[in-house]
Amino acid sequence: MSGYQKRNLALFLYIYCCLFPPTLSVVNASAGGKYHVYIANGLPDNLRVNCWSNDEDLGDYNVPVNQRFRFTTTTELAKYFGTFWWGQKTNAFVVFSSQVASTYCGEADPNISRICYWLVTSDGFYIANVTRPPPEALTKVHPWAN
Ligand SMILES: *[C@@H]1O[C@H](CO)[C@@H](O)[C@H](O)[C@H]1NC(C)=O
Ligand SMILES: *[C@@H]1O[C@H](CO)[C@@H](O)[C@H](O)[C@H]1NC(C)=O
Ligand SMILES: *[C@@H]1O[C@H](CO)[C@@H](O)[C@H](O)[C@H]1NC(C)=O
Repeated sequence: MSGYQKRNLALFLYIYCCLFPPTLSVVNASAGGKYHVYIANGLPDNLRVNCWSNDEDLGDYNVPVNQRFRFTTTTELAKYFGTFWWGQKTNAFVVFSSQVASTYCGEADPNISRICYWLVTSDGFYIANVTRPPPEALTKVHPWAN
């Protein structure tokens, strides 16, 4: 291998081993907390969003004004990232993890489907544990990055 190829391989291994440890994608069948994750567009314009985990890419969506994108995970051990675009603005963060779930959406319970409702506004990213949350149920978690 050339030095260039070696560097690329080293970078590849670093990204896959260190930034995205393989253990994150192990599904624990005994952890059966079901969560519906919503990305609701409270912007005055279309919102573009891409949600993905180590196992699957949910694809790129244009969410119209006042509409929402939804996906479901059947285990609280899943971890999903979201990348968001609004005009020139963007941000990316973890939209679902066991920590997000227990902090904002309710503890995992095999008998109850819980809700992680992200509301995206021009002011930033809010979360609630119900759909159509009243303002007092919303917690601001992230601003737009730029
Ligand atoms: C699966 O999750 C349960 C409860 O969260 C835990 O007690 C158990 O040790 C986990 N098993 C594995 C193989 O990670
Ligand atoms: C949902 O959030 C409210 C606060 O907005 C809280 O009082 C309630 O306990 C939460 N429900 C669950 C299931 O965590
Ligand atoms: C779920 O429901 C079953 C059957 O009603 C019950 O035995 C069990 O304790 C419940 N689990 C939880 C975590 O509430």
